[in-house]
Amino acid sequence: MKNIFIISGMVFLYGCTSSKMNQQNNLTAFDWQGHRGARGLVPENTIPAMYKAIDLGAVTLEMDAVITADKQVLLSHEPFFNHEITTKPDGTIVTKEEEKQLNIYTMHYAATQRYDIGLRGNPRFPQQQKMAAYKPLLLDVIEAADQYALSKNKPLPFYNIETKSQPATDNKYHPSPKAFVDLLVAVIKHKKIEDRVTIQSFDIRTLQYLHQQYPSISTVLLIEDYNKKSLTEQLQELGFTPTAYSPHHSLVNEELVNACKLKGMKLVPWTVNDLATMKKLRALGVDGIISDYPNLFYFP
Ligand code: G3P
Ligand code: CA
Repeated sequence: MKNIFIISGMVFLYGCTSSKMNQQNNLTAFDWQGHRGARGLVPENTIPAMYKAIDLGAVTLEMDAVITADKQVLLSHEPFFNHEITTKPDGTIVTKEEEKQLNIYTMHYAATQRYDIGLRGNPRFPQQQKMAAYKPLLLDVIEAADQYALSKNKPLPFYNIETKSQPATDNKYHPSPKAFVDLLVAVIKHKKIEDRVTIQSFDIRTLQYLHQQYPSISTVLLIEDYNKKSLTEQLQELGFTPTAYSPHHSLVNEELVNACKLKGMKLVPWTVNDLATMKKLRALGVDGIISDYPNLFYFP
């Protein structure tokens, strides 16, 4: 009897390690990424959205990071409270005129927790479940998502974290790239997820600083659909070859797939919300897809 327990324990351990190794080496897993967790189904950039993405088979949890006045790394797409989804502490809704005054970089974390971002739903994502929801700390998201995956006997998730910054709003909506990245990396190191994280950005300054200061952390270059520069120009401007190249999905074609392979970069387009486009992109040979709808992910 004792032997049976020892053998089943070894099989269980091997199973966990093996599936994690497959993901870490990315040998077998197609990199399905839940955008803002699962924005199409659950309030974006929240812990419940990450749970939903894990339930539906996401390999990677995509999310956006901003910084509070007391230097906490918080999940939020905007560095303020978006008028489309926010309810104020007094129960009234945030108007378009006032949203930018609710600047998270000037608010303490405790104050941000008084604003709800889930009760109203999202008018652009009608399937999104309405629920009380708050902007969480990155630290709590990692803690909760890892625990959740373990409790469901799923592989530990990867994290694709975007630095929401741009040169025009340094020290207004966020700190300088150096300060931003240092705060973000401190959380990553504290949670010991260096080998399960990529840092993505449209702001090449954050990627350049990461590459120079924390070369072991994987970087992802984000590209907008209106960016008309060639791949060569974009990489020259960046100054190094990132781990992954992540353009708007409309920019992906066979030539780009081949060029990324030649450079040794993963190609992971965003944000693909219909099955037909997902299938077209997979047939072209992309390495992963970012979607608001993890319920559309398919295996293999
Ligand atoms: O992962 C890339 C994608 O998230 C970039 O777009 O505006 O949704 O953060 P956005
Ligand atoms: Ca993002």
